[in-house]
Amino acid sequence: WLNGFFAGLDMRRGDDAPTATLTVEVLYGTQTGNSADIAEQLAAGARGSGLGANVAELDTAGVERLRAASHVVIVTSTYGEGEMPDDAELFWEALEAEDAPRLEHLRYAVLALGDSGYDDFCQAGRLIDLRLEQLGAVRFAARVDCDVDFDEPASAWTAEVLQVLSAEAPAGATAPAAAPAPSAPARARSPWNRRTPYASRLAVNRVLSAPASAKEIRHYEFELGDSGIAYAAGDALAVVPENDPQLADAVIAHLGLRGDDDAGGAPLAQRMNLEWEIRTPSKELIAAIAERDPESELAGMVRRDDRDAMDSWLWGRDVLDLLEQSPGVRFDPLELAEVLRPLQARAYSISSSPLQSPDRIHLTVASVRHGEDRVRGGVCSTFLADRLSDDDPVGIFPQPNAAFSVPDDGARPIIMVGPGTGVAPFRGFLYERAESGATGGNWLFFGDQHRATDFIYEDELLSLGERGVLTRLDLAFSRDQAEKVYVQTRMREKAAELYAWLEDGAHFYVCGDASRMAKDVEQALVDVIASQAGVDDDGARDYLARLKREKRYVRDVY
Ligand code: 2AM
Repeated sequence: WLNGFFAGLDMRRGDDAPTATLTVEVLYGTQTGNSADIAEQLAAGARGSGLGANVAELDTAGVERLRAASHVVIVTSTYGEGEMPDDAELFWEALEAEDAPRLEHLRYAVLALGDSGYDDFCQAGRLIDLRLEQLGAVRFAARVDCDVDFDEPASAWTAEVLQVLSAEAPAGATAPAAAPAPSAPARARSPWNRRTPYASRLAVNRVLSAPASAKEIRHYEFELGDSGIAYAAGDALAVVPENDPQLADAVIAHLGLRGDDDAGGAPLAQRMNLEWEIRTPSKELIAAIAERDPESELAGMVRRDDRDAMDSWLWGRDVLDLLEQSPGVRFDPLELAEVLRPLQARAYSISSSPLQSPDRIHLTVASVRHGEDRVRGGVCSTFLADRLSDDDPVGIFPQPNAAFSVPDDGARPIIMVGPGTGVAPFRGFLYERAESGATGGNWLFFGDQHRATDFIYEDELLSLGERGVLTRLDLAFSRDQAEKVYVQTRMREKAAELYAWLEDGAHFYVCGDASRMAKDVEQALVDVIASQAGVDDDGARDYLARLKREKRYVRDVY
């Protein structure tokens, strides 16, 4: 046990009396940078209290780091349906493995970030927390699972962790003589966030797809004015939407209420329009309806806990649909405040580069509209498309995504796979590479249903081609011929060149649909590597794991 005990004591011997202090390993897994921010703050707090702190991504640190540490704190988000964030996958693989090291010497704490709108809320953090316990590590602070409004619980958890660490530091420990250099070049934190968004104006709202397209994809430009917002190509922009007032009115009328009823300090109509999520029913609303209408189809599915049936039944249905299915169920305004969730900001991948567009952030967004009897619109996409005029202020705040960025070295080639609106960040990348004079090749795979209606940014992409910026463009229009052609079809056709680019040090990026496209593209990439390198599936996956570790295989999928 002595080994374990001394492992984290940072013994420094100088001319003066020896000083020993505790060093905490602060490891994070992140998709959008929130966990990284919290990790950096915690480390800064630890250093401020005279402790040592190292910050690293989970994959970079690896399970090895846990063997050598005495104290570790892990901050991780969950991504998609209960998955590890991209930069924690390799760590998790090793931690979950049968031959994972015993960790009796280790004291740890986990902060989990997530979105309770998803089924496997905070799953990544939960799994890591439980697995560490199984391996014998000792939890020194309870795990906290944070929902989308994570600021307060995260600060409270950070404060608790710092208190325990200080208490556990050896008595008489003194601050290291020299302040350790920050372990990541953190970008200045934006003063704008979900609580205080910047009031921007929408300068451009233009339809990119042709009228005959099955989709409606729009180009938006938000003015940055004197906000001081500095962004990078590949970052996301969050937009604070307002609900469709017709839907809000219909819900109020259905419940026999009035817009000026008091809803706990504000009129009902205001809260319904600006504060509550009424498009996607919350779990709390579903549970409350099931309880009050036990004979309903919904109540049956809730009792059977049949998630699949419920997911398909709920698909496309909004709060009004649920209420109409159970006409006898009524809620008063204060009950609504209990069962409806706060309306969330929506984040979109930025489609511009600050080098080409320093004063305006561009977004490329598909308008979501379903339904026959009435249109059920995506909250934010229809807010932008239909309800926001260029005189109205609109709340925005940037969400940095440092992992999803062009290589620092402009000579590196890049391969980008972005069908549909997945092309957004790559438009930004191409302008970034053009303006910065990057010399590496730029290869884009783009596709959608039909060339005639869905080739968005066609003129810009072709002109980037003529300028020699877009070195290669491979197109996959799935419905322009009898057989389906997808971006991954083109990847397989170009296997030899694709592999040659990878061997040449290319970075490989994927943006767009997570449920099918990103998985199929990954399989195609594995197949390309296997066939070209002459290795089996495992060998190809090892190659891919190396790309991931080197940050050369990065995804922004949703
Ligand atoms: P499809 O709908 O004609 O089958 C954007 O939606 C484009 O992605 C469309 O051309 C769509 O084709 C295509 N697409 C659908 N499933 C896909 C998959 N698994 N992988 C890649 N592209 C896919």
